[in-house]
Amino acid sequence: MNAGTQRRFEGRVTVVTGAAGALGRACAASLANEGAKLVLFDRDPNGLAETAAICPGSETVVGDVRYAADVKRAAEAARERFGPVESLVAAAGIAGPSKKAIEVEEDEFDLLFDVNVKGSWLAAKYLIPQMRELGRGSVVLFSSAAGLRGSPVLSVYSATKGAVTLLTKSLALNHATENIRVNCVCPGTIESPMVRLSIADAGDATAQSAREDLQKSMHPMQRFGLPSEVVGAVLYLLSDEASFTTGVALPIDGGRLA
Ligand SMILES: NC(=O)c1ccc[n+]([C@@H]2O[C@H](COP(=O)([O-])OP(=O)(O)OC[C@H]3O[C@@H](n4cnc5c(N)ncnc54)[C@H](O)[C@@H]3O)[C@@H](O)[C@H]2O)c1
Repeated sequence: MNAGTQRRFEGRVTVVTGAAGALGRACAASLANEGAKLVLFDRDPNGLAETAAICPGSETVVGDVRYAADVKRAAEAARERFGPVESLVAAAGIAGPSKKAIEVEEDEFDLLFDVNVKGSWLAAKYLIPQMRELGRGSVVLFSSAAGLRGSPVLSVYSATKGAVTLLTKSLALNHATENIRVNCVCPGTIESPMVRLSIADAGDATAQSAREDLQKSMHPMQRFGLPSEVVGAVLYLLSDEASFTTGVALPIDGGRLA
């Protein structure tokens, strides 16, 4: 079947966190195209409105994934508007300071772990119970290639994504007999504002260009990925086509971890 004509998610209530961002928005747009009933969650109201504009019939919730009350509000909004949630894409995340781990400040460390790890955990904590009620569900968390091996540049970010990788596997084991699958994607460097910010963090134009070249050279395909290249994997893992796949951390990295 042609990917453009598939409707794998017809009527499926799906929450997307980080829906104002590059990857969350790209996932939301494709899910909407395939018939999902979407609740879009992000702390950025303007970006969220832009995503909603390309996802007809979607509900938006402005909130912060670090706070249980906000995530609960999104879970309740989804149930009230559409019924129990069947799918979750947890794409909210932040990149860290480009520092060696021991140079990272305590507040920077706490923020990274709160958003990337606690935020993913809270989304699972408040949405998986609705999947349990339905008797089926599928979750895709966002780890990173840096969540499968260390990073000399984004050291603590890498540690947060390592935690997301193992949170994925633990959740998969927790819910394996409940018809609820949990997987994560591990993108290499994907063209996005997050990546541009991290390159800008390198310093002057020469340092930025050196960092971009270095990052590209870390991928055997010698380029950054595109959001659409991550979306295909996310939607596959979320869909029934992956019905015997759980606990997987899937690299989408141009061969970086090969
Ligand atoms: N872009 C890449 O190269 C890349 C590579 C590997 C992994 N990832 C991961 O993919 C995910 C999406 O990244 P992206 O490139 O789309 O980044 P992005 O910055 O474009 O999007 C991230 C989104 O998360 C939202 N967000 C951040 N903190 C939040 C909070 N506390 N509460 C609610 N929303 C919050 C932001 O507002 C933004 O809309 C992230 O988890 C990121 O770590 C990205």
